[in-house]
Amino acid sequence: MIVIGSDHAAADLRKIVRDYLRDQEIPYIDCGTDESPSDYPDIAKEVCKRIQDGYADMGILLCGTGIGMCMAANKMKGIRAAVCTETYSAKFTRLHNDANVLCMGARVVGAGLAKEILDTFLFTEFEGGRHQRRVDMIMDLEK
Ligand code: RB5
Repeated sequence: MIVIGSDHAAADLRKIVRDYLRDQEIPYIDCGTDESPSDYPDIAKEVCKRIQDGYADMGILLCGTGIGMCMAANKMKGIRAAVCTETYSAKFTRLHNDANVLCMGARVVGAGLAKEILDTFLFTEFEGGRHQRRVDMIMDLEK
């Protein structure tokens, strides 16, 4: 299960992401919002809570730059969020960091690139091995 959310700056991109997930038959829940203006930390919290609860495996957070969402998401326990503006980072943040939240900026990436980034993120598995220890070290910083 994927959980998605955006602020007003990325509401259109959220709809594109939603259509993409529907076409791929990937189950998702949409935490909104269609409110304008809206505050991205509220949406990040809603989305990340679903992951913390175990209801969703991964999240997609969209705002103007992706950065505010990423900052907010990474304050939540168990969340490893990454902003991606190209596919290389999307691939390696899955392979090496086991990222569980993808953040993108609607004012940064176009719809076509956003879908490629999303595709890479969703279909790349964590490599484990030596990277597991480093991910564990990141998670230890929460203590
Ligand atoms: C909203 O104007 C904008 O600040 C927000 O979408 C995001 O880019 C913050 O990081």
